[in-house]
Amino acid sequence: MKSKKITIAIDGFSSCGKSTLAKDLAKKLGYIFIDSGAMYRAVSLYTLNNNYIKNGIIDEPALIESLKDIELYFELNSTTNSPEIILNGVNTETEIRTPRVAEVVSKVAVIKEVREKLVLEQRKIGIHGGLVMDGRDIGSVVFPNAELKLFITASTDVRVERRHKELISKGIDISKYDVKFNLEERDLIDSTRKESPLIKTGDAIIIDNTKLTREEQLNEAFNLAKSLIIL
Ligand code: CDP
Repeated sequence: MKSKKITIAIDGFSSCGKSTLAKDLAKKLGYIFIDSGAMYRAVSLYTLNNNYIKNGIIDEPALIESLKDIELYFELNSTTNSPEIILNGVNTETEIRTPRVAEVVSKVAVIKEVREKLVLEQRKIGIHGGLVMDGRDIGSVVFPNAELKLFITASTDVRVERRHKELISKGIDISKYDVKFNLEERDLIDSTRKESPLIKTGDAIIIDNTKLTREEQLNEAFNLAKSLIIL
């Protein structure tokens, strides 16, 4: 039995479990896992740290000019076996997940030049296949020829519940109201922006995980991948 290394694109709305599924699936297949959202979050952290955002308004020319100074890569954490994002030599995996970054990331992600830089880097990482990448434009723009495209959905209530629990477990004190507000705001910006909006491509398979356990959603995705991998 021969197998080939394919590219798997996972897209969907905020906090719907895309990264969890992508990570689980990559582990089961022995593939690389890349959370493209971490790259947008890291650029947003850089934007905040350099004071390119004042009263919610981004100084776009300054950020665009600085993009050449932003170096991003992933490093595997050997304890959690998860890739962590390194921004200009500093591990920012924890900081990029804070509400401060979540509040601005979708505004940074609309900028064409930011997307061009990150899409180029994402394609470089995926050049040899054997990769599961999750995000908003992976199946539509980054890897339009991906052999398997999944579009993940879940009800808003379930997504809010999951993200709230995750933030609280990290010691971040945030209300469900604020989590919901951020999630809905990002979904709206992400799906209505001009540059590579979040869409379900015609060839993507929908997985609604509202009522699925982590294991059930993994099995569904794994079975789909298996049929494409085994020649
Ligand atoms: O974890 P969650 O689903 O909440 O978000 P994420 O995957 O970390 O992505 C954070 C934000 O980055 C999104 O809301 C988008 O604005 C942006 N993003 C994007 O525009 N394109 C991607 N491929 C990935 C993320």
